[in-house]
This record gives sequence, C-alpha cells and structure tokens, in this order.
Amino acid sequence: MGWFLFSVGLVSLCSMVCTVSGIGANWGTQCSHPLPPDSVVKLLKDNGFRRVKLFDADYDALRALGKSGIEVMVGIPNDMLPSMASSVKAAEKWVAKNVSTHITTNYVNIRFVAVGNQHFLETYNVSLLKTTFLALQNVQIALIKAGLSGTVMVTVPLNDDMYESSTGLPSGGDFRADIRDQMLAIVKFLIYNNGVIAVNINPFISLYTDPNFPIEFVFFDKKATPINDSGKTYYNMFDANYDTLVWALDRNGFGNLPITVGEIGWPTGGDQNANIEYAKRFNQGFLTHILGGNGTPMRPGMIDAYLYSLIDEDAKSIDPGSFERHWGIFNCDGSAKYQLNVNFVDRKRCVTKPSTKLDDQQAAPSVGYDCGLADGTSHG
Ligand SMILES: *[C@@H]1O[C@H](CO)[C@@H](O)[C@H](O)[C@H]1NC(C)=O
Ligand SMILES: *[C@@H]1O[C@H](CO)[C@@H](O)[C@H](O)[C@H]1NC(C)=O
Ligand SMILES: *[C@@H]1O[C@H](CO)[C@@H](O)[C@H](O)[C@H]1NC(C)=O
Repeated sequence: MGWFLFSVGLVSLCSMVCTVSGIGANWGTQCSHPLPPDSVVKLLKDNGFRRVKLFDADYDALRALGKSGIEVMVGIPNDMLPSMASSVKAAEKWVAKNVSTHITTNYVNIRFVAVGNQHFLETYNVSLLKTTFLALQNVQIALIKAGLSGTVMVTVPLNDDMYESSTGLPSGGDFRADIRDQMLAIVKFLIYNNGVIAVNINPFISLYTDPNFPIEFVFFDKKATPINDSGKTYYNMFDANYDTLVWALDRNGFGNLPITVGEIGWPTGGDQNANIEYAKRFNQGFLTHILGGNGTPMRPGMIDAYLYSLIDEDAKSIDPGSFERHWGIFNCDGSAKYQLNVNFVDRKRCVTKPSTKLDDQQAAPSVGYDCGLADGTSHG
C-alpha cells in the first residue's frame, strides 16, 4: 500500500467504506453561547463521529466541516419549504449557495439534503406533507441540474407518528390512513431518486407520555418481556418501532427503500426519567445494539442513525417540555456529561462494508487500517 493509497484513503477510501452505514450526531445550534464551529467539528472527530446532521445550512458550520471528511446532511428548515415548493428557481438558488459552493470551494463532504424536519411531538398533516413533497421534487431537480444527484441524496426526516400498527405488533404496520396517499407519493419518489427515508424514533417520549409504558422495553438489556410477532422476537422498542416502518414500506411495495434514523437519544434533565444514568444506558445500549450489525428482525444488517443530540441547546423552546434543552451528550460548553464509547463502535462499523462479513478476517485488517487513519489512530 503506497503513499498514494495512504493519502487517498484518508478521505475518499474511508468515506467510500464508511459512508455505507454508521453513527452520526445531530448538531443543533440553538445555544445562548454557541461553541465555535471549529470546536464542534473537533468534538465530532475526537469522538469518532463520521457523520453529522444539521438542521439548516449554516455557513460557519459548513465552513468548519470543510476538509474534515465528515459526511454532512444539510437541512432545509420547514419555514423555507413553501418557497422551495413553489419555485424550482428558489431550490436552485438554495442548492447553489448551500450545497454546490461548499462542496467545490470548501471541500465539505455533503451527502444528504434533508427536506424539512418533523421534530418529536409535532404531528404531520396533509398540507405540510404536500408542501414537503413539492419542495422535495424541486430540490431533486436542482441537484440534478447542479450535477450533484450522484453524490448528494435527498431525504425527508419524519416523525414516527407517520406510521402505526393496527394490531399493536410491527407486522401490522402501515402509514397513517389520513396521510397515506401523501406518504406513498413521497416514498415512491425517494425510491426512484435513490433517496432515503429518515425517521425520528423517540422511546423517551413514549415513556414521558405514558407512565405505564414498560420502562425496560425502551432499553437494550433484554430485561423486558419480549414481544412475539409471528415468531419474530422483539426485545426493545426501537426494533419494534423500526420494523413497524419496515412493514409499512413492505406492505406498500417499497421494501427496498433505505431507512436512516434521523434522531434518537435521551435527555438528561427536565423530567423524572431524564437523567444521566438513563441517557447513558439508552445511548450506549443503542450504539452497542446497532453496531453489533445484526439489525432488526425484519431488516438484518447495519442501521444508520444520528444521535440526538451532540450538544445541549439551552435556547430551545420548552413548549414540548423542559427536557428539550437537555438532549446533548455534551453540555453547551462542550464538556462531556457522561462517557459514551463511540470509537470502538467506529472501528467495528468500518469493517462492515456490505461485501465484507464481520468475521471476514482477510478484509477486516485493511479496511480497519484505512478507517483508523481518519480519526488519528496510529497503526503500526
Ligand atoms: C442557505 O441556507 C441558509 C441557512 O439555512 C439560509 O438562511 C439561506 O436563505 C439559504 N440560501 C438560499 C439562497 O436559499
Ligand atoms: C399543518 O402544519 C402546518 C405546518 O406545521 C401548520 O401551519 C398548519 O396550520 C397545519 N394545519 C392543520 C390543519 O393542522
Ligand atoms: C411465537 O408465536 C408463534 C406463532 O405466531 C409460535 O409458533 C411460537 O412458538 C411463539 N414463540 C414463542 C417463543 O413463544
């Protein structure tokens, strides 16, 4: 392996191998004293995150991400959707300014554009979905015109209340009746345009809204009574929720659509169940679970997810509950609230490209080598 491969491996080989799946983090910026973007990028790198999801296309954040190799999902906020929906020109301007420029002049590894965002506790309605769908189409047209459709994928982050189960089991999963037609139009469009669907899954809210929810089922320690869904066994809420979506897609003929988990996490304050012990238990359990590579009963394999969230946002609206300001793994000043082992996970992820089985001893060392470089790990 010569110098050429060494240096290329840092950016392109690793991003090729590692982009396929992995752990990212949401980077929200509603802080009273935001950390300098360069410090946030350092935080991401130091902690082994290779993907980041933004809620907008903040210029300084993107500039700081330049040349980092970190895969970026930029977002179009909901309040910009109407203009994008009504005008391809607006979408083209957005893509030119907020995607193309950053890729070509700042070397930002932008890989996804999220069209709108449905946050926890907000419910979808048909009119918002219609606007989202129109905006999605215009953004895709703009990406094609900019010559970026091969590298930048569109996605729509949705809340997990867009689907439900008639039986209470994952196998009863389907899109909610009142938004079903709109959802199918979006999903079909995503499949034909190599997009992905992003879903926000939030076990904490299940517990918050229903005090009788079996608490052990939100964690990953297999201490809850499992659910038997026609022979498929569910030990935790995440798998059951994710597979309800898988069933909804399968049932409507879109079983091939890739899913990414746009937001998942646990807050550390603002509710009796929002504490450091539970947050660490949930997040570490989740990481270990998905990076084991077994996937869910319905979709074995690697799961893509963005932890929610990297840093606390002390200026967020607390209308949904005061826990809203405490989702961070890190405090506003960048100090860690608890230790989360993402790095070990990272290495595992890197050896798990689709063509490589976890136990494939021959592939593992060389892939691990290339991936290790980017996080500064020395390999002798
Ligand atoms: C680019 O993104 C920023 C941040 O989200 C936004 O304020 C701005 O309006 C966008 N630019 C265009 C041309 O749409
Ligand atoms: C649907 O959602 C949009 C955006 O959140 C909101 O402005 C509108 O009032 C909602 N409509 C209904 C009927 O709830
Ligand atoms: C799960 O349910 C199936 C029938 O749906 C049954 O055949 C199987 O024995 C059950 N498994 C367990 C562990 O209860």
